[in-house]
Amino acid sequence: MAFSPAFIDELIARNPIEDVVGQYVSLKRAGANMFGLCPFHGEKTASFSVAPDKGIYYCFGCHKGGGVVNFMMEVEGLSYPDAVRALAKRVGLEVPEDEQYQSRYRQQERLWALHKEAARFYHSQLYAPAGKAALEYALGRGMPKSTLINFGIGYAPDTWDSMVKALRAKGYTEEELKESGLVTVSKKNGNLFDRFRDRLMFPIIDVRGNVIGFGGRIMKKDDNAAKYLNSPETMIFNKRKNLFGLNMAKKSKLGYLILVEGYMDAIALHQHGFDCAVASLGTSLTEEHAVLLSKYTEQVVLIYDGDEAGQRAAQRAIPMLEKAGLQVKVLRMKDAKDPDEYLKKFGADKFKVLLEQSSNRVEYQLNAIYRKFDTREDEQRVKFIQEAAQLICTLPSAVQREVYGHRVAEVGKISYDAVKLEVEKAFKRRTNREKKQQEQQDLQPVKNLQPKTRAFYYKNMKSAMAEEAVLAMVMTEPALFDKAGELTEEMFSAPVLGRAFAQLKQRYFQGLEVAPGVLSEFTPEEMSHLVGVTQRHDGPVNEDALTDCIRTIRREHQLGNVNTDDDLLALQNKLKERKGLK
Ligand code: UTP
Ligand code: MN
Repeated sequence: MAFSPAFIDELIARNPIEDVVGQYVSLKRAGANMFGLCPFHGEKTASFSVAPDKGIYYCFGCHKGGGVVNFMMEVEGLSYPDAVRALAKRVGLEVPEDEQYQSRYRQQERLWALHKEAARFYHSQLYAPAGKAALEYALGRGMPKSTLINFGIGYAPDTWDSMVKALRAKGYTEEELKESGLVTVSKKNGNLFDRFRDRLMFPIIDVRGNVIGFGGRIMKKDDNAAKYLNSPETMIFNKRKNLFGLNMAKKSKLGYLILVEGYMDAIALHQHGFDCAVASLGTSLTEEHAVLLSKYTEQVVLIYDGDEAGQRAAQRAIPMLEKAGLQVKVLRMKDAKDPDEYLKKFGADKFKVLLEQSSNRVEYQLNAIYRKFDTREDEQRVKFIQEAAQLICTLPSAVQREVYGHRVAEVGKISYDAVKLEVEKAFKRRTNREKKQQEQQDLQPVKNLQPKTRAFYYKNMKSAMAEEAVLAMVMTEPALFDKAGELTEEMFSAPVLGRAFAQLKQRYFQGLEVAPGVLSEFTPEEMSHLVGVTQRHDGPVNEDALTDCIRTIRREHQLGNVNTDDDLLALQNKLKERKGLK
């Protein structure tokens, strides 16, 4: 979707970056820039900056950066066009949508409607004669009629093409049937047949209430078929971005969300009054899921299956959820495989007790360490204390460190002072390690100059440095474009820098604004890199410097140079000299 530059300019002008960012981050002014805590990585000192005059943000910690549109993309997890639409809506600006977008949206609407029809069809089959066994299975698993209705549970009959026929009868085209993922195409004769056959069906509904896919469970044990089969990814169904049950859980009054592994676990929890349960869709938790959850709650209780795989998945999920700013508690299933089984065996009251006892993630991780060792043996007790100290030394608050330090002292049967010493030692080891890594990096200045994203690796470092400088100069002082006429995109050794230069140059000569914030058609990674280039530039900004750089770029281009070890060594030495390291 290409919006006209004039429209984007107006959009950007009417959405000052400091206002938009200010809705998510509390910003303090320091000179021309504003600073705050980065919303994209956890931090305690403000390394996130906004430059209102350039229309950009940049984090010196995680190196994310871009203009106001990129900020919306990043913070709300939107595509470029959707971020533009959100900003337009924010200021009541009408979006000139093109034919392509409108036709895509119409296609999506058709698919949503198709899925609704499909859900109706499956649900009705549950009460048809063919669905007798499925209904019995569902009731037998403890789902009353009300649950079947609330969750729209259904049955995919054991035929080749009843769904194909039902959808065709409703006027859906062959193309639409294929796109829906509910049918597959026979390799032999190209005929369409149902993807889901003889399965209990769970509709997957997004937060806006659209049916976007299905999960289907076989009812008899069959080693040749997957227990659960899910819809494939389609235009409307992305497993990484959706969670089963969130459409209902988002309305819960309980104040937290419960994250479980299985459809049946989420359903059983809802049935027993825990209407805040959601499940991932046969994939492990993604960062997108964590961000999605953080829009609806501040606290997540993780309840993964008690087996080793479930516990490993929980350990993986904890940092992702915390990174999204969520408070995490973990409940370890005991005496039952999963929440569904637990509720059936022990009931809701017992589960509630278990939930109240669920530990915060530190307790949980301490327990996990404790279980690794047999603390009756001295040697293992020492190992337990050392490993626990490594965990405790990462805790940001002194109160937390003291509380858990005491806990470890108690379980490890030693004095608190001894634990404290061990934690301090672990802390020193850690900071030393980090310091060494930093020193190592400082000693390799050339390596630091390479872009953080591998895909933009500079193949001619000498030219790339000059290119970065040119870009930073024209973004700071657009009038320099008048002196850069001979420089063309082809001469750039780094394509991403060349593209940005060309786009800005064109804008300059069209009389449009030139600032990093107005760049469009760059990926978030590219934008971060480009904005970083201007933010880091600390050389002079004038005609002489520009001419110098252009000369370098032209010469390197003519010679067709790529980095050699000698070049890098020479550059390395020059930089070390400048930094006073030599
Ligand atoms: P489980 O195997 O733990 O099943 O898979 P469950 O949730 O306890 O299901 P029941 O109680 O036997 O009916 C957990 C989740 O992993 C996904 C599904 O989302 C399931 O709910 N999964 C599992 C699949 O996608 N495919 C499979 O073959 C199995
Ligand atoms: Mn189960």
